[in-house]
Amino acid sequence: MPNALEIRAMNKAFASNRVLRGIDMDLPAGAITVLMGANGAGKSTLVKIMCGVQPADGGTMQLAGRPYAPETPRAALEAGVVTVHQSINDGVVVDLDVASNLMLDRISTGGQLFLRRRKLHAQAREIAKAVGLVVPMGLPVAQLSLADRQLVAIARALSHNPKVLILDEPTSSLSDAEARRLFALIEKLKAQGVAILYISHRMSDIRRLADRILCMRDGVISGQFEEQPLDYAGAVRAMLGHEMTDVDITLATPGAPVFEASGLKLRATTKPFDMMLRANEVVVVVGLVGSGKAQLASALFGVAPPVAGEMRLDGRAYAPRNPAQAIAQGVFMAARDRRSNAVVPDFDIRRNFTLPFARRHSKAAHMISRRSEMHTARRMIDEMGVKCQSPGDPILSLSGGNQQKVMVGRWMAEEARLLILDEPFQGVDIQARRDIGTRIRAQAEGRATLVLVTELDEALEVADRIVVICEGTLVSDRPNRDIDVAAIMAEVADTPAQPEGQVA
Ligand SMILES: Nc1ncnc2c1ncn2[C@@H]1O[C@H](COP(=O)(O)OP(=O)(O)OP(=O)(O)O)[C@@H](O)[C@H]1O
Ligand SMILES: [Mg+2]
Repeated sequence: MPNALEIRAMNKAFASNRVLRGIDMDLPAGAITVLMGANGAGKSTLVKIMCGVQPADGGTMQLAGRPYAPETPRAALEAGVVTVHQSINDGVVVDLDVASNLMLDRISTGGQLFLRRRKLHAQAREIAKAVGLVVPMGLPVAQLSLADRQLVAIARALSHNPKVLILDEPTSSLSDAEARRLFALIEKLKAQGVAILYISHRMSDIRRLADRILCMRDGVISGQFEEQPLDYAGAVRAMLGHEMTDVDITLATPGAPVFEASGLKLRATTKPFDMMLRANEVVVVVGLVGSGKAQLASALFGVAPPVAGEMRLDGRAYAPRNPAQAIAQGVFMAARDRRSNAVVPDFDIRRNFTLPFARRHSKAAHMISRRSEMHTARRMIDEMGVKCQSPGDPILSLSGGNQQKVMVGRWMAEEARLLILDEPFQGVDIQARRDIGTRIRAQAEGRATLVLVTELDEALEVADRIVVICEGTLVSDRPNRDIDVAAIMAEVADTPAQPEGQVA
C-alpha cells in the first residue's frame, strides 16, 4: 500500500526541552500503525503537529504525495487528517448540544449557516448512527457520560471521510462493548484504505489492532516492527530502553479490620454484600465499566450514600454525607477520569499535588506555606516518577500520563486510614504502572487500600486480595496467589456490561 502520510526529520522543543528529535515516520494507507512510547516520549506532541494544533520547529510532511503543513486544525481536517485527541474535552464543546457538536465543522464553515433545527438533528443522527451512539440530539454534551462524549468526538471526526485517522488513547474511558464497537469501526475504515495511527498503553488493544508497531523513546523512533507475528516483547523493550521488571508480590500480613460494610446495597435492584478491608492489605476490585465499581467508590467516599447497608471505620459507624466528611475521617479517594474532573488547569504542578491538603500546608489561616508545599511536591514528583522540568510548571505542560501520576499522587502524599484508588493506571505506561503499583504496596502498612480496576493484569501486579464485582455485588474474593486467570475473567465477564449512557 502507498503511504498516506510521510514525516521527515520532525523537530519540536518547548524551551530547552527537545521533545521531538528528528522523527521519520510513514503511515501506509489501509493499515493500522500503533505508536508506543512511555509517558512523555512525545507521542501527543507529534500528533498535535500532524493535525495543525501546533507548528513544528523543523521537518516536513507529505500527504498523499503532496507537501502538507497544516496551520490550523481546520486545515488538517479539510486535507483529510482527522484526530481524536487524548483529552476528551478537546473533541467536544461541552456547552453545545449533541447535534451541534456533531455538525460543528459544517455549521461553522458557513454555507448552511442557518440549518433548520430538524434537518440539523436528522443529519446529526446519521453521523451518530455510524458509531452506534444513541442519545437525544438536543442534550447538552455536558450532561453526557465521558464514554458518550468520546463517541461524539469520534463520530464527529469520522464524518469527515478521513484519509488519515489518528486516535490518541481513545479507549481509556470506554466500556468493553464501546471499545469493541470502536475497534469494528477502525477495521472498517482500514478496509476502505484509511491510514490509521493508534496510540495506546493497553497491550490488549495493541495486540488486537496492530498491523505494525512504531516505538518512540525520548523524542526519537527507537523501534519499528512489521514482520508477522509482531514482536510485542521487543516493542516494549524498544519503547522503554530496557527489559520489563518482574512483579514479585509477597502477600502482606493482614492487620486489624479498618473498614467493614454489611448488607451494602449499591443499587435498588442489586444484591446486598459484606466487605472487610484490613490494615496493610491492598484489595483490588475488578469489574467492567458499569459493574458497580463506581457506585462502590462513591458510597465509601461519601459522594452518594449506598441504597442500604451499614459501614464502619475503625469500629465506629461511618456514614459520610460528602467527600469532605470522608476526608476528615482519613478516607481519601483518587477518582477516575481525572483528565476531565480533577486537574486544576490554572494551578502549577505543585499546587495540583497539594490541593486536597492545602490547609495542612498553612501556617495561619489562608496562608499557604510555599516551602512546605514545595517540599511535598518535590517528594511526590520523585516518588511517582513524574517527568517534568520543575514543580512550578503549569500542569497542562505535562504529558497525559504524567498529569495522571500527579492526580493519583496527591492522595498518597498524606497518611490515610482508607485509600481508594479508582483506575489509578489509566493512561500510564507499562513501566510507570509497575512503579506506581510498587509505591502503593510500599506505603500500604497501617492503612486499608482499595484499588478499583477493569483490567485483571493491573490487579495481579498490585493486589494482596482480588475481589470481583459483577452486577453491583461482590461475587468472589481470593488471595493473589496462583490465580486462575480464566476463572476470574469468566466471573468478570458474566455481567451484561451496563452501559454508562444509552448506547445501542
Ligand atoms: N505545551 C507544552 N509546554 C511545555 N512542555 C510541553 C507542552 N506539551 C508537552 N510538553 C512536554 O513534551 C514532552 C512530551 O509530551 P507528550 O504529551 O507529547 O507525551 P506523550 O508521549 O503523549 O505522553 P503520554 O503517554 O503521557 O500521553 C513532555 O515532557 C511534556 O512535558
Ligand atoms: Mg499523550
